[in-house]
Amino acid sequence: MKISIIGTGYVGLTTGACLAERGHAVLCVDQDREKIALLRRGKMPIFEPGLESLVKGNVRAGRLSFGTSNKDAVAHGKVIFMCVATPPRPDGSADLSAIEAVARDIAGHLKEFRLVAEKSTVPVATGSRVKDVISKYRPQHVDFEVASNPEFLREGCAIEDTMNPDRIVIGVESKRAETILREVYKPFKAPVLVTDIMSAELIKHASNAFLAMKISFANAVGQICELAGANVVEVTRGVGMDRRIGPGFLNAGIGYGGSCFPKDVAAFEAISRELGYDFSLLREVQRVNEKARDLFVKKVERELWIVKDKTIAALGLSFKANTDDIRESVAIKIIRMLVEKGAKVRAYDPQALAKARASMNTIAYCRSPYEAARGADAALVLTDWEEFRALDFGRLKKVMAHPTILDGRNLLDPGKMRELGFTYRSIGRP
Ligand code: UDX
Repeated sequence: MKISIIGTGYVGLTTGACLAERGHAVLCVDQDREKIALLRRGKMPIFEPGLESLVKGNVRAGRLSFGTSNKDAVAHGKVIFMCVATPPRPDGSADLSAIEAVARDIAGHLKEFRLVAEKSTVPVATGSRVKDVISKYRPQHVDFEVASNPEFLREGCAIEDTMNPDRIVIGVESKRAETILREVYKPFKAPVLVTDIMSAELIKHASNAFLAMKISFANAVGQICELAGANVVEVTRGVGMDRRIGPGFLNAGIGYGGSCFPKDVAAFEAISRELGYDFSLLREVQRVNEKARDLFVKKVERELWIVKDKTIAALGLSFKANTDDIRESVAIKIIRMLVEKGAKVRAYDPQALAKARASMNTIAYCRSPYEAARGADAALVLTDWEEFRALDFGRLKKVMAHPTILDGRNLLDPGKMRELGFTYRSIGRP
């Protein structure tokens, strides 16, 4: 099927490449000409494992192409996926101006029937707004439909999540729209859940809010473990073995970041309030999340007493492993808090150095973890890169001024670290 994607960011590019891989003819467009020029040269604007070869392979096979014109997108795809950003406004609610602008643009270019599907995470009832806008601005004789088809991909394993999703959610108003989207996802082996549009929109917000809640719950339990002297890794393992709860997203640490959870929890809270329900639980999820990073900074202060003028090695800048994305990265937030207190931070990250350098010039950037640790009074593990688990700790110890590690991700083995002669602190572990 001919499919168009408007918005070639994380979601749009991954979705486009995966749909092409499954045999569809996909046109990805974006208003960012530089990004499209880069993609046309076979270069990726983001680091995502497996993405480059998938994109290149499908471009070569003639199934994937790139452009900058919404008009071309409307002409090409029977289905048009909207994958534009829905960033937070100061009050936490989602800024839907890009969605509205794209909807208006699609309407202006409509010549024959199109199914316009929201893939971006949007508050409930956005679909009906999109429908109103297209209805108003289209040539009145042209038919169209709106659908919701939220994505659930995680950065760092976006291809795997898109190719083998737990479920495909299709929110539609008619059998015709359902049939088209079922056709799109026919080559994927996953259960398909068909709902109305608003329920599909809510599934996305509720899923992300629930996952964020799991993380905050684990972080709160981590604090209890610390106070009582228990081990949060064992506690959450035991809790997660209950099939009703599940083992995922129970890792205590410095809190969640990234482009989705902070934004989606805030937007879900805001739309709930707007609808007349005070979802105070979500505010508590946010509060616990922010507290996790404050408590970690306090831990650093407990260890170093005075942070001012101390050299601190930051291992990790991205918001999680296997990505160069630093949006809402808790690692960066913690580094900023320490810099504010006068610390001299030397940072290393396997992928995010360039992006961090462009957004923060108050720290030193290093090409290896050992360079970052040179002369350090403490090293902080801030991102869960596998690389940090396999460090040459003898070498690390030698270059540090004091062999102290504060592990914000519970990545390392406390017993082993102590055996190696490190003062080692982690989250919720004795
Ligand atoms: C998330 C959702 O998982 C995905 O389904 C949705 O479509 C987009 O948002 P993403 O933001 O890419 O994906 O990353 P995810 O793996 O969910 O991690 C989010 C944050 O939570 C990261 O900062 C991560 O380090 C943190 N996290 C995750 C924890 O602190 N503990 C955990 O147990 C899991």
